[in-house]
Amino acid sequence: MRFKNKIVLITGSGSGIGKAAALAFSKEGGVIIVSDINVKNGLKTVSEITKNGGEACFFETDVSDFDMVEKLMNYIFNQYGRLDVAINNAGVGGGFEKLIDLSVESWNKTMSINSSGVFYCIKTQVPIMLKQGGGVILNTSSIAGIRGLPNATAYSASKHAVIGITKTVALEYAKNNIRVNAICPVFTVTPMFNPEAMDKLKEGLSERLKANIPMKRFADVMEQVNTMLWLCSDEASFITGQAISVDGGLTV
Ligand SMILES: NC(=O)c1ccc[n+]([C@@H]2O[C@H](COP(=O)([O-])OP(=O)(O)OC[C@H]3O[C@@H](n4cnc5c(N)ncnc54)[C@H](O)[C@@H]3O)[C@@H](O)[C@H]2O)c1
Repeated sequence: MRFKNKIVLITGSGSGIGKAAALAFSKEGGVIIVSDINVKNGLKTVSEITKNGGEACFFETDVSDFDMVEKLMNYIFNQYGRLDVAINNAGVGGGFEKLIDLSVESWNKTMSINSSGVFYCIKTQVPIMLKQGGGVILNTSSIAGIRGLPNATAYSASKHAVIGITKTVALEYAKNNIRVNAICPVFTVTPMFNPEAMDKLKEGLSERLKANIPMKRFADVMEQVNTMLWLCSDEASFITGQAISVDGGLTV
């Protein structure tokens, strides 16, 4: 019960890594604010948590809309009076195309969700954490935030930005007892990363991606979530500003 009675916000928790994290933080005693642009999926996460005896609520947010993000944090502060753990996880994969085929529209969309979304969230979370004397923030970047990923210029740029935000905000607020870290998942099977869909894009692509990973397999969602639980817990109390790869050795 590492998060007993802690107020935990997870964006993009209607699906994939965020949903699995919401269920896991709830099992460890957290009160979960499930937030997503997809209302149906977000409500489903809440109902799974409450069915298991946990406490959760849903707040619809498009993280690329600053007003909606501000409303989310105001709601949390008015409702609970604090925010102990904030996991800025919502993201999109962006298009799968070479630079010259990447449209300005697609670039702007990916950057607005993956990078501006994290900026909007962290900008409105830090004031609450300053008031209460500390807190923990975890941003979901990617291995594409550490190295290049062919056919994913916008995605890779957006996830590099997440690490820049993480390191800088960690330095600015370290003395205020606010820890800020990022995780960098490798390919993890979720609705965003589906090996069969990859093979439809290009025959044999999923096997080639797997072959590049030293541990020769994709990640399981719980391997990401277990790292999130640890990084957000007091067990990681002296770790801040880090981008932790959970990648079977890919970025080594
Ligand atoms: N799955 C992977 O292989 C992988 C690898 C590296 C990084 N990541 C990152 O992990 C995070 C979670 O990805 P996932 O694999 O669970 O994907 P997913 O598609 O299963 O979940 C993403 C969630 O974010 C929500 N979302 C999308 N746009 C949003 C917006 N504008 N506002 C609010 N919510 C929004 C979606 O509705 C969805 O519920 C993302 O940031 C992704 O970039 C995933």
